[in-house]
Amino acid sequence: MSRFFLSRSSGRLCLISRGAERSPLYVDFTTPALMQRVKRLSPRSELLLKALGGQPGETVVDMTTGLGTDSFLLAAYGYRVLSIERSRTLYLLLCDGLNRALADPSVPEWLQKTLARIHLINADARSVSLLPNESVVPICP
Ligand SMILES: C[S@@+](CC[C@H](N)C(=O)[O-])C[C@H]1O[C@@H](n2cnc3c(N)ncnc32)[C@H](O)[C@@H]1O
Repeated sequence: MSRFFLSRSSGRLCLISRGAERSPLYVDFTTPALMQRVKRLSPRSELLLKALGGQPGETVVDMTTGLGTDSFLLAAYGYRVLSIERSRTLYLLLCDGLNRALADPSVPEWLQKTLARIHLINADARSVSLLPNESVVPICP
């Protein structure tokens, strides 16, 4: 039996540890901490943006999405983001966080537009063939 299981709690899909000694893990793109980072968002405040050096509207491929923080910040800057995550569990948590925020009428329009720029894919990034497109920048943050 796995030590972790997925369960819905307070309307969120959560990864829960059977020992219950850890807090449930879920994706929330509306936390005050993320909103603070978005407020100060610039290539000076976020090294990832500085390293990329691209322009809003370009496409970035996040090849290791994890819990989606980097993908979110890139989308908030204006990039279109193809977010690839190979873990099925993390992918489901990401989909839940994204869909929950998109369906929430209290989420402001700018945040909804930001989230709509993120496209999630559940795959091993090494097996995803990207269309040749000079504006696509693959990253592994
Ligand atoms: C350290 S986390 C990335 C954290 C992420 N940048 C963030 O902002 O939350 C690494 C993630 O990359 C995923 N990963 C590693 N190799 C991968 C691959 N070849 N294709 C897709 N995902 C991969 C892992 O499953 C893990 O969730």
